[in-house]
Amino acid sequence: MAQVSGIADEQTSTPLSSSNTILLRISRFNPEHDDSSQFMEFTVPYERWTTVLEAILDVKKHFDHSVAVRYSCRQATCGSCGMMINGKPRLACFTKISELNSNVVTVEPMNNFPIIRDLAVKFERLFDTHQKIKPYLIRDDSELVSDEREFLQSPEEVEQYIQFANCIKCGLCNSACPTMATDSSFVGPQALAQAYRYVADSRDKGKDSRLKIIDDSHGIWRCHFAGSCSQVCPKGVDPAMGIQLLRGYLLGFRS
Ligand code: SF4
Ligand code: FES
Repeated sequence: MAQVSGIADEQTSTPLSSSNTILLRISRFNPEHDDSSQFMEFTVPYERWTTVLEAILDVKKHFDHSVAVRYSCRQATCGSCGMMINGKPRLACFTKISELNSNVVTVEPMNNFPIIRDLAVKFERLFDTHQKIKPYLIRDDSELVSDEREFLQSPEEVEQYIQFANCIKCGLCNSACPTMATDSSFVGPQALAQAYRYVADSRDKGKDSRLKIIDDSHGIWRCHFAGSCSQVCPKGVDPAMGIQLLRGYLLGFRS
């Protein structure tokens, strides 16, 4: 592997060549002493199954260990490695270089998240809004104590919410959302989708308190239905649909 150059400013994209290398452009920014981000470029070898995360780790191992990137599971489960890859929010561990169809791969921190350094962003807003909607089953404790059995659900009842339970809290949907960029108080598609996940669960008794939380000008009514959240979700969750269904409860179309 050979480093091509130090710093470049403009993103380029050219068709994938027959050589098994890509130009990997990594956004570098340290808010403690940089005024703006700059790209560092590296030539990185790849094979058919090489992921963007593996290419970044190749750079860290061979050229610059200081590149900041967050990851853990490397199998699209922990939700840690979200970043902008060629302009789109994706999981780096779940994105193969060969599927990008370009011999230039540009990685940047996720939009709508404060940068810690380079590709690592702060998740506080995501986790705060997630916590705000009470992401757990709400039951009457006395009912739980006196009723020593499982809360059985029919397949139809499970079907109401199960896709939303696949959320890994990666934040890609919030990164893609144009409303997140313009309203710093917006609860965001991730939390709204999770609000629906619990409201639609037949075991849950917290619907009224959750609907009260999201029934706000910075809550469910702030969504403009751009739909970009659902397009980028790596787990097949459809936050835009969840938001529509939640509005049905508030408008009296669902009970
Ligand atoms: S809904 Fe999808 S994109 Fe959004 S945080 Fe959950 S898994 Fe990630
Ligand atoms: S490293 Fe866990 S989702 Fe990518």
